[in-house]
Amino acid sequence: MTGFFSEDTSVETVNARMGADIDPRMAEVFAAVIKHTHALVKEIGLTQAEWEQVIGFLTATGQICSDERQEFILLSDVMGLSMLVDAINNRRPEAATENTVLGPFHVAGAPERAMGETISLDGKGESCLFEGRVLDLDGQPIEGARIDVWSDNADGFYDVQQPEVQPKWNNRGVFTTGADGAYAFRGIKPVSYPIPDDGPVGKLLAALGRHPYRPAHIHFIVTAPGFDTLVTHTFAGEDDYLTSDAVFGVKQSLVAPYERREDGAETTWRSPFDFSLTRV
Ligand code: BEZ
Ligand code: FE
Repeated sequence: MTGFFSEDTSVETVNARMGADIDPRMAEVFAAVIKHTHALVKEIGLTQAEWEQVIGFLTATGQICSDERQEFILLSDVMGLSMLVDAINNRRPEAATENTVLGPFHVAGAPERAMGETISLDGKGESCLFEGRVLDLDGQPIEGARIDVWSDNADGFYDVQQPEVQPKWNNRGVFTTGADGAYAFRGIKPVSYPIPDDGPVGKLLAALGRHPYRPAHIHFIVTAPGFDTLVTHTFAGEDDYLTSDAVFGVKQSLVAPYERREDGAETTWRSPFDFSLTRV
C-alpha cells in the first residue's frame, strides 16, 4: 500500500501530497525543503527535546519581531544565508563594485545634502572625508547617481537605536553626482559595533561561541537610471573583526583606504573609494 508514512519513505510520502496544478516553482521549492530538512533530521538523529528547543527558538524569534526589529532577518544574517542569497543574485563582472548585506538600519527618506556637506550631526568621533566617483564599467563618470549613505556614531550606535540621544538623521544623507560623477562628504571614521544581541539570535551566537561584532563600516546604496542598484559598505582596514564579521558581510574589495591626517591637535581621515556600476 502507498501513501503511509515511514522513516524510509518520508520524503516521497510528503511530496506526493502536493496538488497537480500548483505553481511549478512552489512545487520545486517545497520538494527541496522537504528533501533537505528530512535529510537533516535523519543525519543528526534529532531528539524530541531538541525539536522542542527549535520550536521554542523560532517562537521567541517571531515574538520579538516588531516594526522596529526583524529577528528572522538577523537569524538569516548570522547563518550566512543573507550573504548567500545576495551573492547568487548579484553575480557581477570583476570590475564592478561588490554588493553586501543591507542590514536593518537603513531608513528611507534621509535628507538630500549638498556635495561636501557633513552627515555627522552629534559632533562626536574622528572626522573623515569620504570621496570618489561613481563610474560605469568603462570608467566613464555617471551623472545623476544617487548615493544614500548611513553609518554608526562614535559610540557604535545608529541614530534609530538611540532616538532620545542622537539627532534625527545623524550620520545619514543622500548625495547626487554631477557630470563628473564625483561625490564628497564629511562623516566620521566608523567604529565596530555588536549587532542587536539581546534576543534569541544573541543567545544563539553565545551558545555557538561566536561574538556579535561587525567590523567598522559605512553603508551605501548607489542608484542611477539604467544601472543595477548597488547595496554595499566600505570597511576600514586593520579592524579586529574584519575576518570574523558576525554576518559575513566583508569582501576584500570593499576594504577601503583610510588615510590618517594630523590637523594640529586633531586626527582626521580621508577615505577615497570609487563605485563601479553594472548596466541593467
Ligand atoms: C548593519 O551593518 O547595519 C547590520 C547588518 C546585519 C545585521 C545587523 C546590522
Ligand atoms: Fe552597519
